[in-house]
Amino acid sequence: MGTATPALSPPAAPAGAGYRPPGLGFAPVAADVAEADRILDHTLSAYRSPFGPLIEHLRHYRGKRLRPALLLLTAKAVGKVTPQHHTLAAAVEMIHTATLVHDDVLDEAELRRHVPTVNAGWGNKVSILLGDMLFTHAFHLASTVDRRACEVIGEATNRVCAGELRQVTERGNLHLTEADYFAVIDGKTAALTECCGRLGGLYAGASEEVAGRLAGFGRNLGLAFQIADDLLDLVGTEDAAGKTLGTDLEQQKLTLPVIHSLNRLPAVDADALRAAVRAGEAGLGRRVLHALEKTQSVAYARRRAEEFARAARQELECLPRGECRLILEAMTDWTTRREK
Ligand code: IPE
Ligand code: IPE
Ligand code: MG
Ligand code: MG
Repeated sequence: MGTATPALSPPAAPAGAGYRPPGLGFAPVAADVAEADRILDHTLSAYRSPFGPLIEHLRHYRGKRLRPALLLLTAKAVGKVTPQHHTLAAAVEMIHTATLVHDDVLDEAELRRHVPTVNAGWGNKVSILLGDMLFTHAFHLASTVDRRACEVIGEATNRVCAGELRQVTERGNLHLTEADYFAVIDGKTAALTECCGRLGGLYAGASEEVAGRLAGFGRNLGLAFQIADDLLDLVGTEDAAGKTLGTDLEQQKLTLPVIHSLNRLPAVDADALRAAVRAGEAGLGRRVLHALEKTQSVAYARRRAEEFARAARQELECLPRGECRLILEAMTDWTTRREK
């Protein structure tokens, strides 16, 4: 990866840019998501002059805004969205974006959110420092709310980083177990979605018990979401997903469908597949797909994702019936069927 700073001109507005509501849409909190976006933009605008094109790139670097939407929908379902929620929604999206900027370095990915990754445009050094800056600003924003917010976001971010670290250290372990896999995704993905549910509830005046159930909702949704993401990495399309796929196998990171398949294949076939993964053999993708089909491992992973989505839905029973609860329920369905 080069270290020069190419004059990457701001990319044209991509198909996936802007606010894209999944499933039913996030209509009741669309204005609140926009306010969180405004806080995020405002926070970074101070750097527009020294790092113009880089910060400008982030303006086109908009994903689905799932985490702000989770935080704001849970808040509205409990009571009222407040300015504290807007600040916290901006903070969690900044943490998420920081993890993606770093993750793309780790995965050597070139496409993210339908535009070039920061590492593709500016190199790894800039990506590491930009990710760090996003983390520090997220905590600075949280500190304008209160100590509890810093604690909740801090605990979640610790788990996210530990999950990513564990994944990197397990790289090349082709005997990874399902339990190891779940420990990784519980940290790297579910910790932050759990944090969104908890913060949404707490700052809308929910009891600790209800906030705990909303956290459980977020955690289960996150687990389902990451299993679906790992399926996309194997069987999705880059056009729809807007990001580089296939990096899990390339990086020798085993995910649920592959672990299941290796456990189901006759030992001699499993060892041959491990050798092919280790060698990065040509045609590896097709070979793995064939194995997944033989052991029905895609269907297995989908079933596991659906179980977590169902568990997430059950936690929503603590909420009064209403539009926000319906949308959160629909998000649990969308999560397992998504293509992006
Ligand atoms: C990508 O998250 C990283 C994972 C946890 C799988 P998203 O799919 O929510 O990414 P954006 O924010 O929409 O780009
Ligand atoms: C990383 O997981 C998710 C993070 C929490 C950073 P992936 O590596 O599967 O995410 P994508 O596929 O690059 O979005
Ligand atoms: Mg990745
Ligand atoms: Mg992935």
